Amino acid sequence: MLNTIQDRQSRTRRPSRAVRTTGSLVAALGLAALLSGCQRSDQTLFLGDMASGYNREIFFMSLWAIALSVIIFVGVSAALFYTVQKFREDKNPNAPQQFHGNNRLETLLVAVPVVIVILLSVLTVRSMARLNPVPAGTPKIDILGKQFWWNFAYPATTADAGGVVTNGNEMVMPAGRLVTLNVTSGDVVHGFWAPNIGGQRAAIPSVVRTWNVDTDRPGVYQGNCSQLCGASHANMRYKVIALSQERYDAFLAAAKAYRAPAPAAGSAEERGYNLFVNGKPETGALACAACHRVQGTPAAGAAGPDLSFFGTRRTLGAGMWEGDKARDMLEPWIKNSPEVKPGSLMPTYDGSEYTVSGKKQKGGVLTDDEIGDIAAYLRSLRLPDDADYWRDTPVIKNISAPGGQQ
Ligand code: CUA
Repeated sequence: MLNTIQDRQSRTRRPSRAVRTTGSLVAALGLAALLSGCQRSDQTLFLGDMASGYNREIFFMSLWAIALSVIIFVGVSAALFYTVQKFREDKNPNAPQQFHGNNRLETLLVAVPVVIVILLSVLTVRSMARLNPVPAGTPKIDILGKQFWWNFAYPATTADAGGVVTNGNEMVMPAGRLVTLNVTSGDVVHGFWAPNIGGQRAAIPSVVRTWNVDTDRPGVYQGNCSQLCGASHANMRYKVIALSQERYDAFLAAAKAYRAPAPAAGSAEERGYNLFVNGKPETGALACAACHRVQGTPAAGAAGPDLSFFGTRRTLGAGMWEGDKARDMLEPWIKNSPEVKPGSLMPTYDGSEYTVSGKKQKGGVLTDDEIGDIAAYLRSLRLPDDADYWRDTPVIKNISAPGGQQ
């Protein structure tokens, strides 16, 4: 007998190799999460936010579905209870009457589910017919998801300096009206998911998916990627900033007129600008402009998020850090972003190795001062104060009841 007591004891004492491997993997992941120092947003993702007409429609449709399910549950339970009581063995000592074939019963058993399915289909199609049509004149936002960040472009607004007005990782939209989103992906499948404004759509390469979202309540909402897309899937976040129509118009007008401010001669911003646009070929430091766009400058790269209004943003690393933490993390981020955000495709600037398309590359080298100069330049890329979409916009947290706030 192979299964000896000793054998069993040793097995209980020592977990199998698979268990041990999984255990250390879990521990390593936990440790990595701790060490990465990433920030948890205190904003909730709330599907039942009734400030969104989209969510209200889905909510009332689901009430119908729940009501139908309750009726079915009660009906089936009653029938079961009745049958069990009526045909108990102690009340029916004889073998039950045997029969097969009952046209009326069989027709009923087919008809009832068919009616239920038709009813649910009609309700679903009715909701789709209400939600899907894109009314003429809705503001449109083109969304591009990539590993691991988002760009939000305003296709109807061409900047005076050329190119379409675009913001990275912070989506500004008007409140109180429908907004049409067109979402796609530049690499793998991602998921656009900002439940407070309604709905969720997969971002699929070479496919554009269109739908309408809305919220009645101006505020800052949380969005996340909802499709497992790689090492930093969980760090592929964004903010949705819903503004009153007036403030939204002010944002868009300022964004249209925006040209990155020309840095003063001899300033840190000017040194940062030069490094940003040209890199530092003698130490192998690549130019930021190869991958990033800054409106009103020669920087027109499209491989990374748009940085035109970087100084106005309050998040960094696609929502990985917020507020003061985002401010503090900027220099470490430029220095070695794959170290602080797993899977980040940005080159390193401290000479360490990084991976692009599975190939190891040696990073270029910038001094801490030079990195500080680039950070100073980035922080100077601000929209005018009256177009700062964060200013006085309430951050919506912990909505616990339909229609609830803060
Ligand atoms: Cu992108 Cu998950």
